Amino acid sequence: MSSSTQPKKRQFQSIKGVRDILPSETALWNHIENTAHEVFATFCFREIRLPVMENIELFARSVGEESDIVTKEMFSFEEYGWTPLDTFRRNIISSNPIDYRKVSLTIAVDSVKSHTDRFLTALNEAVELGEIQKTPEVIAALQGIPKQRDELLQALQCGPNEWSDSDLGVPWNEIRRLARDTRLGEQLCLRPEATASVVRAYIEHGMHTLPGNVKLYCMGPMFRRERPQKGRYRQFYQIDAEVLGPSDAPGIDAELIEMLMVYFERVQLQGATLYINSIGDKNCRPAYVERLRGELQNVRDKLGPDSQRRIETNPLRVLDSKVEGEQAIIEKLPRIAEHLCSDCRAHYEEVKRQLGLRGIAFQENWRLVRGLDYYMRTTFEITAPGLGSQNAVCGGGRYDGLVEMLGGPAATKGIGFAIGTDRLVLSLQEAGADLSVRQSGLDVYIAWFGAAAQTMAIGLARRLRDAGFVVELPAAEMKFGKALGFADRLKARHAVILGEDEVAAGVVTVKRLADAKQQKLTEPELNAYLRSQ
Ligand code: HAM
Repeated sequence: MSSSTQPKKRQFQSIKGVRDILPSETALWNHIENTAHEVFATFCFREIRLPVMENIELFARSVGEESDIVTKEMFSFEEYGWTPLDTFRRNIISSNPIDYRKVSLTIAVDSVKSHTDRFLTALNEAVELGEIQKTPEVIAALQGIPKQRDELLQALQCGPNEWSDSDLGVPWNEIRRLARDTRLGEQLCLRPEATASVVRAYIEHGMHTLPGNVKLYCMGPMFRRERPQKGRYRQFYQIDAEVLGPSDAPGIDAELIEMLMVYFERVQLQGATLYINSIGDKNCRPAYVERLRGELQNVRDKLGPDSQRRIETNPLRVLDSKVEGEQAIIEKLPRIAEHLCSDCRAHYEEVKRQLGLRGIAFQENWRLVRGLDYYMRTTFEITAPGLGSQNAVCGGGRYDGLVEMLGGPAATKGIGFAIGTDRLVLSLQEAGADLSVRQSGLDVYIAWFGAAAQTMAIGLARRLRDAGFVVELPAAEMKFGKALGFADRLKARHAVILGEDEVAAGVVTVKRLADAKQQKLTEPELNAYLRSQ
């Protein structure tokens, strides 16, 4: 193949809004995650691992049909995407019979037959294997498509000059509709957050039968199609904790926040500020929302398009607005604190008292309404320095009605939070978190010369690793200078040299690379020496 016909090599890069977390950073990530495992365990939280894919409906119902997450940011797909069955279905949906005018009769007939036959065969097979359900739409396709296809084939027989748009278009559009309606699988998505998944798992595994409130936590990637910027990614990570069960005692809210603050202290996050609010419940919030809507209607002209839209869809979210020109207007709006019912007010007061008992400093922020629909009563957020405009490192709140809404027992209460791990890492890095101390580093580089030395080196490497040392063993022999140069570049603390002399004498030469101090030792002496360093 000549060079001009060679396919151009493509260099791939990670897709928009996602990134690689490189080994130079993973030490800090592991430290953060390990500390969460340790601290959360001391508060009796237990880890749950959840799938990153869920039914899209789960989030539409919980996070909210009108929320930004569901309307704009979901990565969704069909369960049967890219299977042959789905490909055949898509081929039908996207083809246009009018194009048959450009081809011969034989090609047109073959094309109609192959499109429909392949789809029907695959559909029949999937039904027989139980891979898809025999829904009324699937039955309609299995019966209707052959009928429409025969009509279409008959119309084609008249020859290209006679083919009218309606002769071809009507049956083909019907075939397309039938194929489209089969809706082969479920609409799936990559999870944008973890709370709905935790609740789904709680219900699915009957955890409401466990004694008391169940404390769960999980960590992993979440996906939202947001406009990427510093601290905002399309694949980002959360450390998420939830408390589910019969009790909504304010002490639960306070202890959850206490755990969070203990955790932030343990990872040495400086300057974290806790903001709290209560957004009421289904008894008092609707009246407040209507009052707010009314006030917002009066100032509608002064608001930007997003806030104007939210007057109808979700007036509370206007309070979230960061638009400069709206701030003075928002400050004058009625505040939820003045509209809480007596139960919500008592709950909120007790949460604050209990935070006080635990010595936790907080600021009240009446505009903290949060962007997910499931919240009620307590909401909270924690900001950290060094993050620019995306400065929320954690968000959370109470969601007492969610379990019931997702099909679980009515009386179940819930509260939780999610820490944005990426942002926590960023904030710690901005504050100069020292990664190097957390990296284990390379204890020993074994430079071996000759076949006998390699055999000895393989055994020595295994035993040193078993003893917990980090060992690099070159796979191929190198010249002495190159091997030692390599050890230096890898920042090994020691080079162990194994040549003919060492093999003959049954010792190793160990060189401390910081000061080039060199000595010959037996293996037990080497072990003791490395341990003493
Ligand atoms: P959220 O406020 O949407 O709440 O997200 C929690 C945290 O995740 C944010 O404070 C932020 O640190 C981080 N985060 C969110 N989106 C991004 C992004 N695109 N890039 C980087 N970090 C991001 C929830 O997700 C709720 N499920 C929290 C919760 C748990 N409420 C009750 N239980």
